[in-house]
Amino acid sequence: MNQVVETYSRLADEYDSLGNTNSCWGRVTKHSLGLITLQEKYKVVVDVGCGVGRELAQLASHDSPEVEFIGIEPATKMREIAIARTAQYPNVRILDGTFESLPLQVRSVDYLYSILAFHWTTDPAEAVNEFARVLKPSGEMDLTFIGRYNGREFIQKTTPIFFKYMTPEMMVRAASLRKQLTVEQTYTLFRKVLGSQGLTVTESYHTYNDTLDGHWSWWVRIEGQLVNISQSVRGDCDGELKAAIAQLETDKGIPYTVHLLHVRLRRG
Ligand SMILES: C[S@@+](CC[C@H](N)C(=O)[O-])C[C@H]1O[C@@H](n2cnc3c(N)ncnc32)[C@H](O)[C@@H]1O
Repeated sequence: MNQVVETYSRLADEYDSLGNTNSCWGRVTKHSLGLITLQEKYKVVVDVGCGVGRELAQLASHDSPEVEFIGIEPATKMREIAIARTAQYPNVRILDGTFESLPLQVRSVDYLYSILAFHWTTDPAEAVNEFARVLKPSGEMDLTFIGRYNGREFIQKTTPIFFKYMTPEMMVRAASLRKQLTVEQTYTLFRKVLGSQGLTVTESYHTYNDTLDGHWSWWVRIEGQLVNISQSVRGDCDGELKAAIAQLETDKGIPYTVHLLHVRLRRG
């Protein structure tokens, strides 16, 4: 199991906490869900990286029981919560799988979506091949995920501190866990396999102001888990990180800007 998936599995119980749902990530998730409109022609709908199944349950609760919903999630504990949450909907199945290896038949999917997960793919090219394999010729898609310029304010403040506590190799390794694509790179990646017809890739910036504690609760859970700083200096490092992030404070709070990419495929 890779480090990202293992981390999500270990922290799955906290995923539905208010700290997370009220954070910038909870709000970007709602924004992303708002981009999805299920059409009558969609008979098989797939959510890749479905996490704890929140969006899948919400969509299934509003749609026809004839529609088959499939959630795909590699983190065991996230999957267990998603299975429990969607148990009341017999038309929902939650499967083990990844972007790079989808447990789905060739040309079987009418609509595939993914919210805030594609930046964790270990192999973007293979993932796009998988989308092309499983989508029907009329299949459509919406993916939202974070882009290259995500969280700039925090990066500028925290990088000098990480350099004190981590070697350059450790920093490169931590950064490489997340794909950091530009809008142009994303378009090139998807067009190569899916063609340009009906394909658009857009980017948007969403700034969220919060308290230090509000940001720290997700930041330490998502970013902090991936940096592998030894426990003996972790306390000192966290103290310096908090002080640096606190310097961003304005009268609206501490800003964090999400760089969001949206890949949209429509086939007519
Ligand atoms: C930020 S969560 C988003 C979950 C859900 N889509 C939501 O909006 O709440 C990212 C999810 O991507 C999953 N993930 C990580 N690597 C993945 C991969 N290679 N393929 C598919 N999903 C992956 C994680 O286990 C986690 O559940």
